[in-house]
Amino acid sequence: MSEAYATAWRDSLANPEIFWSDAAAAIDWVVKPRRIYDRDDGWFAGGQLNTCFNAVDRHVLAGRGDQLALIYDSPVTGNVRCLTYSELLDHVGRTAGMLAALGVGKGDRVVIYMPMVPEAVFAMLACARIGAVHSVVFGGFAAPELAKRIDDAAPKLLLTASCGIESQKIIRYKPLIDEALALSQHQVEHVVLLQRDAHPADLDATCYLDWTVQVAEAIDAPCIAVAAGDPLYILYTSGTTGTPKGVVRENGGHAVALAWCMQHFYGVGPGETFWAASDVGWVVGHSFIVYGPLLAGATTVLFEGKPVGTPDAGTFWRTIVRHKVDIFFTAPTALRAIRKEDPEASFAKQLGIGGLRAVFLAGERADPDTLGWAESMLGVPVIDNWWQTELGWPATGTCLGLGDTRRRRGSAGLPLPGYDFAILDDDGLPVVRGATGSVTIRLPLPPGCFRSLWNNPAGYAKSFEAFEGYYETGDAGHIDPDGFINIMGRTDDIINVAGHRLSTGQMEQIIASQPEVAECAVIGADDSLKGMVPIGFAVAKTGYDVEGLEARIVARVRAELGAVAALRQVHIVRALPKTRSGKILRAVLRKLANGETCPTPPTIEDPAVLDDFRPLFAERCAV
Ligand code: COA
Ligand code: AMP
Repeated sequence: MSEAYATAWRDSLANPEIFWSDAAAAIDWVVKPRRIYDRDDGWFAGGQLNTCFNAVDRHVLAGRGDQLALIYDSPVTGNVRCLTYSELLDHVGRTAGMLAALGVGKGDRVVIYMPMVPEAVFAMLACARIGAVHSVVFGGFAAPELAKRIDDAAPKLLLTASCGIESQKIIRYKPLIDEALALSQHQVEHVVLLQRDAHPADLDATCYLDWTVQVAEAIDAPCIAVAAGDPLYILYTSGTTGTPKGVVRENGGHAVALAWCMQHFYGVGPGETFWAASDVGWVVGHSFIVYGPLLAGATTVLFEGKPVGTPDAGTFWRTIVRHKVDIFFTAPTALRAIRKEDPEASFAKQLGIGGLRAVFLAGERADPDTLGWAESMLGVPVIDNWWQTELGWPATGTCLGLGDTRRRRGSAGLPLPGYDFAILDDDGLPVVRGATGSVTIRLPLPPGCFRSLWNNPAGYAKSFEAFEGYYETGDAGHIDPDGFINIMGRTDDIINVAGHRLSTGQMEQIIASQPEVAECAVIGADDSLKGMVPIGFAVAKTGYDVEGLEARIVARVRAELGAVAALRQVHIVRALPKTRSGKILRAVLRKLANGETCPTPPTIEDPAVLDDFRPLFAERCAV
């Protein structure tokens, strides 16, 4: 363990106000914070800043306007576009002007439903510039999910594009937006749509405005100062119910935490190139495609493609070499997809990896086998890091920027400064070292972590109710004798499919609304590519036609939740296994689907029910 890491972690917990006061010096404040931490007011109370100024303007003012800020690389359209900080400032200023001209002001919400194009980044920064609150919705969500977010965030404006491009598929956005607007109670004033050559949309309806026309008419809007505690964005994430949780990110803590993290965790500074192969619709995209690298004065890569098929399994390495990427961030699923197509890593051998220093993995558990394959193939450290939308930045990992290199395959690493982990049992007591329990973090959470859920104080409070004085992460895990944290899975019904966070409870709600379905269950089963995939089980109502019901259920989940749900397997069964008190034995179904040994539980109401399930997974089942 590096001495610098050990000292930083210790100091951050022993003297958090000094630690984060030092870290706050990396940010340009309009008004310096009055207090570094206040129980009621949070981090950096009294401070005023502008996140966009810190991410863009100040680098230009410091004379680095000609440095590359954003590289857009789109293998799906064949475009590469490089923007300097001066050019980025020009685009963001004018996009902010467009928002202001359309009546968007401080505190107003703007929903952004866009593919991975530079205008999505301009839009996020433009909101930050004028103190508006953006809420980016991932393009893989269907219209009803977008409608839920529109109703909750109540935006003035919706920003979108004519289409997204998924490998060879064109996803037409306008019909989807029309459907979402018809479903939502809240009415947006305008939809500003960016026309893309791949599929321009017909802008018939009156609420649609053409992005290019609006921006051309706009005049630059300046940065306005906002309070440290003012919201920068709302990002909806799956909770345990059908209603998504709107995680609110505050300007001050977010800027300080990300600036600290870029330098001391990833080890990335001004002029270096950082690429997070994620999507702006996820927290990784917010923190490490948009804000983190730009706050650090680095160059960020915006990649519109997939790890495979755009055009081949060498696309990551080609992009890394082409743009001189120093640090790369991706999801384990992406590496598994590449490995499946190119097990001998012939592309990496042929193309090389340029000056790449390290790969960081997050979004789901990094299985040791994939991690080992990647390390031996690339010859650079491959570092797991664990965190969540709620936290906003990594909570465990290896602080490369502090000179640490220690890592342990299968573990998500050591706690980052600011994070004090405890593994607790169901009674809230610490388990013995090495035993598995609920992964919790002692309060207060460090800067950048959520301090509220939009319109949902009760939902927010829930994360702190089970264990007094601790934040309940919803993950289960253990800490090894050397302090390495191992994340083993969720304690709730959230699953991670290809690094995408989804709720099986939400899928159950959708399936239960299918008229033929009496009851249902959805479980997450292990998958060699996506980490996990959902599998549904449904019992049909007596007298209803079950012919083709599986396909109808799959289609319904896709239509209501979105393609990203990736529910492809549904089984119609006579009954679900239940305890005598009526609880569905989902853990038993999970074990069966995973081919694990699964003796009939003593609490089961009717052991014969399980006989229907065993043949479904016969080839994987070791019962
Ligand atoms: N817009 C619209 N649809 C989308 C979408 C988006 N932004 N993202 C995914 N989808 C669709 C896919 O096209 C697919 O549709 P299909 O059922 O019609 O084929 C469906 O959602 C499921 O997508 P996915 O689970 O991603 O599977 P895939 O087979 O298309 O791709 C991988 C598999 C492994 C290549 C892909 O999942 C991947 O790149 N994973 C890495 C994810 C990642 O980086 N996550 C970062 C989180 S930190
Ligand atoms: P999200 O909020 O979408 O980032 O999802 C967060 C959840 O993904 C966590 O609570 C974990 O369950 C899982 N997760 C993220 N990163 C990791 C990791 N490195 N190891 C294990 N699980 C992870």
